Amino acid sequence: MAATVAVEKLTRMFGSFTAVNSIDFSVSRGEIFGFLGPNGAGKSTTIKMLCGILVPTGGKGQVNGFDILSEQEKIKSTIGYMSQKFSLYDDLTVRENLRFFGSIYGLEGKKLSDRIAHAMDMAEIGNRGDEVVKNLPMGIKQRLALGSAILHDPPVLFLDEPTSGVDPIMRRNFWELIYNFSEAGKTIFITTHYMEEAEHCDRIALIIAGKIIALDTPARLKGDLAYEVYSFSVENFIEMFDYIQSLDFVSETAIFGSDIHVLCEKGFPLKRELGALMKKKNITNYHIEKISPTLEDVFVTHARKHGV
Ligand SMILES: Nc1ncnc2c1ncn2[C@@H]1O[C@H](COP(=O)(O)OP(=O)(O)O)[C@@H](O)[C@H]1O
Ligand SMILES: [Mg+2]
Repeated sequence: MAATVAVEKLTRMFGSFTAVNSIDFSVSRGEIFGFLGPNGAGKSTTIKMLCGILVPTGGKGQVNGFDILSEQEKIKSTIGYMSQKFSLYDDLTVRENLRFFGSIYGLEGKKLSDRIAHAMDMAEIGNRGDEVVKNLPMGIKQRLALGSAILHDPPVLFLDEPTSGVDPIMRRNFWELIYNFSEAGKTIFITTHYMEEAEHCDRIALIIAGKIIALDTPARLKGDLAYEVYSFSVENFIEMFDYIQSLDFVSETAIFGSDIHVLCEKGFPLKRELGALMKKKNITNYHIEKISPTLEDVFVTHARKHGV
């Protein structure tokens, strides 16, 4: 089956700066494909090229069978795009916003009113349809922005950090919507910098400094990690973090809330060796246990390997 989205050596330069550096990937129908990376990694630039908003400076690609270099207008009518800065008009009411976006997509009459009702339902607007958008809570605004991006019922959705700035409960609710779309056969391309969100994707590409440094299912990315991971908690956390990092048998470290993740070669007796060092330092109040790798561990490892 042809991929819904596919790119080859996709590149975007701004002057002499390469924001997206020769990336390759494809996304199949119904898949939830995540783009995970820190600020400035090139996520939005990639999405804009796929949505026909920004012209690539190198490489090629297609979305829904349309060429991203020459058929941008066709692409725009067959996708839903939720930009990082939501496109809603703050001073218009919910209904006015939806009517406006509906008309952009060429909807009218009963079709338009049905789709508006659907979007309002999905966004859980209740009886606030005549309120101006700026008075709505952030979570509802986000759902409404999604609703307005899918008024024309597109088969592919591009969501650029749709959940940044909302609380974890609203984020969960938002993901329920994403799952529903995927089950209905829609393809989802979503960017995030939340590791726990990336876990929900069918596959993820890790992107750093414009390059895809790993691409696979969350389970395989974690399974392929070359290290064992331990969680270490101790008082004097900051001081200990520097100390742990300096140990030659420690391959990587990452901070997780108030715990330190310590990565070491497979089979290394970390518990015993670190225990002996703690004893020498007269530290008894600590806890160390082996844990399953998290995506953050994978990310840190890959990032370090690429000199970030
Ligand atoms: N229009 C532009 N002109 C110059 N540099 C840009 C432009 N848009 C993005 N960049 C740069 O490209 C890099 C990637 O940006 P972006 O794709 O927005 O990253 P992300 O979405 O992953 O945070 C950043 O260094 C950013 O400053
Ligand atoms: Mg961005």
